[in-house]
Amino acid sequence: MRRKITVLPGDGIGKEVTRGAIEILEAVAERYGHEFEFQYGEIGGTAIDNSGTPLPDETIELCKSSDAVLLGAVGGPKWDNQPSHLRPERGLLAIRKQLNLYANLRPISYFSSLAESSPLRKEIIEEVDFVIVRELTGGLYFGKPSERTTHEGKEAVVDTLFYQKDEIKRIIELAFELASKRKKRVTSVDKANVLESSRLWRETAEEVAAHYPEVELEHMLVDNAAMQLIRNPRQFDVMVTENMFGDILSDEASVLTGSLGMLPSASLSTEGPNLFEPIHGSAPDIAGKNIANPIAMILSAASMLRLSFGLEEEAEAVEKAVKDTLDSGARTGDIAGGQTSTLTTKEMIAEIKGAILDQA
Ligand code: NAI
Ligand code: MG
Repeated sequence: MRRKITVLPGDGIGKEVTRGAIEILEAVAERYGHEFEFQYGEIGGTAIDNSGTPLPDETIELCKSSDAVLLGAVGGPKWDNQPSHLRPERGLLAIRKQLNLYANLRPISYFSSLAESSPLRKEIIEEVDFVIVRELTGGLYFGKPSERTTHEGKEAVVDTLFYQKDEIKRIIELAFELASKRKKRVTSVDKANVLESSRLWRETAEEVAAHYPEVELEHMLVDNAAMQLIRNPRQFDVMVTENMFGDILSDEASVLTGSLGMLPSASLSTEGPNLFEPIHGSAPDIAGKNIANPIAMILSAASMLRLSFGLEEEAEAVEKAVKDTLDSGARTGDIAGGQTSTLTTKEMIAEIKGAILDQA
């Protein structure tokens, strides 16, 4: 199979971990006889420095001319005090909108060898296996107006939570499709006791559920969901929610498995290429030190193989290589627990790459 992949390393550890994903994909290509062509683009702070904008038009053109996009992470203290149109995170919001990436899938699963690096007890996190489906191109992060203003002569501010019903419907349908292939349970998270938008969300979920009699639908208020994630995360199969709620809950869920550095995500497009990125940011505190955990990025590349290229066997080979590498005791600092000897980013990448080639 021949595929063209746009790689957007971004800032900070984004550059270090994307190199890992590429090495792993090259190993997959070698083992299975595929040809992956990589083309590189700029986004975030790096793009601001070089082109004066967080998402240059050439980057979007590159993405649209490829079969899938891999993104590292953006941001850093260097750009924190910029006006908002010159902030790296603007590049993220813009690429989601321009590639119509309406759904962000964040699988949360338990690695038995990492039980000791979770702050929660093993009995609580054992066998955890669910997916958060976050709406990505609407809701509070995109609604207009979003601005500083004045009200009755005093300083004020407004953000807007706006959805068209069709946007709610398509993300909930995706959650039901996923659940129908998994444990057949959808938890729809909202704040229907307060927000009108959540009441439409809830009604829409009921309408979609009527077409999936085999899938059970449960509604949960977002504050309760935040608590249930810690009390009993095993109850979840597919959780679907609004953009900001999903942002917050998925970061919370990330601690279940031990480290942000372990969690991949997939952003699906209504047309065009899908985008795959780790859920973590650019980690300025450890950037450039060759100690970042590359696994979230590598598992994102595995999702790309599965969801964009239909290469299930190859995706599983990467996931197995990660699991075997962890089982062998290999750890980067973030997942080391009490262990004193840790691997660098490059060493971890080499271990996982070796595990892929060894399986052959
Ligand atoms: P962060 O995810 O970059 O880091 C949070 C903590 O987790 C840090 O202590 C970091 O060292 C650690 N960490 C994250 N990824 C790791 C990895 N792969 N291996 C080992 N440790 C890891 O979030 P933070 O610090 O809130 O944000 C830093 C910058 O990243 C900000 O500019 C923020 O806006 C941006 N950001 C970008 C995102 C993206 O590109 N999708 C997502 C979240 C934040
Ligand atoms: Mg976040």
